[in-house]
Amino acid sequence: MTIYNFSAGPAVLPREVLQQAREELLDWHGSGMSVMEMSHRGKEFTGIATVAEADLRELMGIPSNYKVLFLQGGAHLQFAMIPLNLLRGKPSADYVNTGEWSKKAIGEAKKFGGVNVVATGADRNFSYVPAFETWQCNKDAAYLHYTPNETIGGVEFNWVPLLDNMPGAVPLVADMSSNILSRRIDVSKFGLIYAGAQKNIGPAGLTVVIVRDDLIGHVLPGTPTMLDYKIHADNDSMYNTPPTYGIYIAGLVFQWLKRNGGVAQAEQTNIAKARLLYDAIDSSSGFYNCPVDKSDRSRMNVPFTLKDAALDESFLQQADARGLLQLKGHRSVGGMRASIYNAMPLAGVQALAGFMNEFARQHG
Ligand SMILES: Cc1ncc(COP(=O)(O)O)c(C=O)c1O
Repeated sequence: MTIYNFSAGPAVLPREVLQQAREELLDWHGSGMSVMEMSHRGKEFTGIATVAEADLRELMGIPSNYKVLFLQGGAHLQFAMIPLNLLRGKPSADYVNTGEWSKKAIGEAKKFGGVNVVATGADRNFSYVPAFETWQCNKDAAYLHYTPNETIGGVEFNWVPLLDNMPGAVPLVADMSSNILSRRIDVSKFGLIYAGAQKNIGPAGLTVVIVRDDLIGHVLPGTPTMLDYKIHADNDSMYNTPPTYGIYIAGLVFQWLKRNGGVAQAEQTNIAKARLLYDAIDSSSGFYNCPVDKSDRSRMNVPFTLKDAALDESFLQQADARGLLQLKGHRSVGGMRASIYNAMPLAGVQALAGFMNEFARQHG
């Protein structure tokens, strides 16, 4: 039976990538060593890291005045590193609150400076993206932080906030943990983009930060060395031992994406995959429900509930029996959630949509 893993993260990786990693596990390219055993300063590994960075730059069209950093600590550590590095003597930063991950970022930023929540979806239980016209942005904010895809709530921005992205203007900061590389974006509109790797990039333990170079080098006094972007930038992410195996796998994922038409093709497939699931929900005559406004529904994480929560267990059991795994919703919201990142094949989503239709027919 084919297994399809709908986990929100750590999540499914491309099968081809795992097969290649298996082939190369004991002996990487005739080196006689596993990548796990290599010095991060040796020519083999520095080559792997250089190619991984170049491929990511190509896939995302990252301009040359941006640094690409391969760090650790997950997106959670970025919630702290961003204010530590980007407040740059300013008293406060702007944050948009669209759900659970925004709230976490806001909570951490408050430890280092003022936080102005310029828009919130709290009035409707975070089921939508507040319209840009309603945002109460501050011209003197150190930066504006938002979460383009709320992994738990399934709320995704289909647009990028229009800020002036010149040095001196308010830089846009985005937590792209759960939708990086899933759709085309113009990196030059952002001051900083960050993402934990474990959804669309590779294994947990690697965090990617893309930051405009004029924004680094201004940390708050007393900032620990390891939390200073400039230290990592000046040392090509090798100030200390980086997560070498994670970088290697991420590099294989980037090559896989390049072989398969890059981000533009991934985006088309993601649109098709998401449509299949939302169609299954919307055509179920209320058997399934997705609480998110149609215009703001995530292409990556599809949360839905069953009309009768008493059927949840049997839905999950039958899905499991067909190899459709990890569909249980986040503990804070219940119901179901299907995460359909880049590496989830269309066939997996077709299988899930087929099962949902059948289950609704049987129990509706
Ligand atoms: C949007 C978003 N931000 C932050 C996090 C937290 O990431 P980490 O566990 O890598 O700190 C996650 C998920 O894990 C996420 O989906």
